[in-house]
Amino acid sequence: MLIPSLLASTLVATSVVAKHCQNLSVPVTIRARNGVFNVATLRDNHDATTFFANFTKPKANFSNEVLLGYQTIDNTYDISVKFCQPDTGYGQTVQLLTHGIGFDKTYWDLSYNAYNYSYIDLAVDEYGFSTLSIDRLGIGNSSIADPLSIIQVPTELSAIYELTMMLRRGGLPNVPWAFSKIVHVGHSLGSILSYNLAAMDPTASDGLILTGFSQDSAYIDATFDAWASQLVRNNEPRRFGDLPTGYLTWANASSNEKTFLYPGFFDPAILQFSESNKEPYTTGEVLTLGSSPFTIPEFKGPVQVLVGNQDFIFCGGDCLATGDPALAGTSIPGEVAKAFPAAKAFEAYIQPNTGHAINLHYNATGAYKATQAFLISHGLGST
Ligand SMILES: *[C@@H]1O[C@H](CO)[C@@H](O)[C@H](O)[C@H]1NC(C)=O
Ligand SMILES: *[C@@H]1O[C@H](CO)[C@@H](O)[C@H](O)[C@H]1NC(C)=O
Ligand SMILES: *[C@@H]1O[C@H](CO)[C@@H](O)[C@H](O)[C@H]1NC(C)=O
Ligand SMILES: *[C@@H]1O[C@H](CO)[C@@H](O)[C@H](O)[C@H]1NC(C)=O
Ligand SMILES: *[C@@H]1O[C@H](CO)[C@@H](O)[C@H](O)[C@H]1NC(C)=O
Ligand SMILES: *[C@@H]1O[C@H](CO)[C@@H](O)[C@H](O)[C@H]1NC(C)=O
Ligand SMILES: *[C@@H]1O[C@H](CO)[C@@H](O)[C@H](O)[C@H]1NC(C)=O
Repeated sequence: MLIPSLLASTLVATSVVAKHCQNLSVPVTIRARNGVFNVATLRDNHDATTFFANFTKPKANFSNEVLLGYQTIDNTYDISVKFCQPDTGYGQTVQLLTHGIGFDKTYWDLSYNAYNYSYIDLAVDEYGFSTLSIDRLGIGNSSIADPLSIIQVPTELSAIYELTMMLRRGGLPNVPWAFSKIVHVGHSLGSILSYNLAAMDPTASDGLILTGFSQDSAYIDATFDAWASQLVRNNEPRRFGDLPTGYLTWANASSNEKTFLYPGFFDPAILQFSESNKEPYTTGEVLTLGSSPFTIPEFKGPVQVLVGNQDFIFCGGDCLATGDPALAGTSIPGEVAKAFPAAKAFEAYIQPNTGHAINLHYNATGAYKATQAFLISHGLGST
């Protein structure tokens, strides 16, 4: 008798809400002010090395040295998105999920191990949110364009802004619903973009979840050193043989592990999975990464900064090591509070035993739950 009743309760517990998803390619009119950079087209891996040697030179600002001016981009590109909703309806809140460098929208819905690392499964099935996960412009199944002049932070930001406006007015193709609350959840470069969105228009977002993020750029050069970048067409000819030379990737699984993962707390096979599904980054992205304002005094929504304690890229491997005795008891991500003087709430959540790519660690679901709880406690739940 025991076994059937256990089985019955398991079935009941897991069949309450199920997610419905659709893949869409959304034409988006992008308007942005991009940098015009005087960098010669990379010819080979040697040029990729030289590009980063230039970029990481101490006490210099390579982006500024090669900046010739700005140009206005006004063009329509396709953004590949996946929209998911619970079968109970759209709800009031949609989470717009933006991935970071090295990933695409599947970061939020990893097929690995029967999807038990899926952020989307948890947010939709267990918490009733709708989600829109996007491939950033230039990445995944979104439009490919010139990696130096077009694929930059301002154009990627414009795409996110336009998709946000579509969700607000019920204008996303096949999703005839005007969401009253839109939360922007980012990882790494996706967090930088979500942050910049709130800076550009503080009313565009109702809440920010910035994962794998801080404002400490001290470890970026060490990250680029560990990456030992190559042209992605050389490194991954089977998947990316046709991409222009300004599309780059890190050298190998060792570079990936050092900068994205915390040894001992991830499944070794997920490193191979992630390495064989890695996505590139562009010279234009690298040159425009550091252009965010330091504070967003007008943003009034709640902000959670959720970072793996051992994040290499944004904390140098220890988020509690602020390096300043006056900041004892605080954390590097906690310093981001100063950027949001008017935020309704601010939380720096340090996820234990976790590196930069939070979603690839054993306890990823622990981190996701902390995010859903934060949203619910600040009026941004699904209902
Ligand atoms: C969306 O695309 C993914 C990746 O190609 C695929 O696994 C999934 O089945 C698609 N979903 C739908 C609803 O078509
Ligand atoms: C790196 O900087 C040197 C010296 O300014 C320049 O000649 C070279 O073209 C640059 N290379 C790349 C790939 O940025
Ligand atoms: C470097 O130069 C770029 C382009 O002028 C600028 O946006 C950025 O703020 C500068 N970075 C620093 C740290 O000064
Ligand atoms: C997924 O399942 C595997 C095997 O049971 C487990 O080791 C891992 O921690 C789980 N991961 C998540 C994120 O739940
Ligand atoms: C892109 O499209 C291909 C072909 O439909 C699919 O296999 C792949 O999973 C898609 N990737 C993403 C990131 O949507
Ligand atoms: C990975 O690439 C780095 C940088 O080129 C190199 O030092 C290292 O030996 C490589 N590791 C493996 C396992 O190939
Ligand atoms: C998993 O993450 C949750 C949320 O941060 C935390 O409370 C819990 O202690 C973590 N579990 C382990 C085994 O680290």
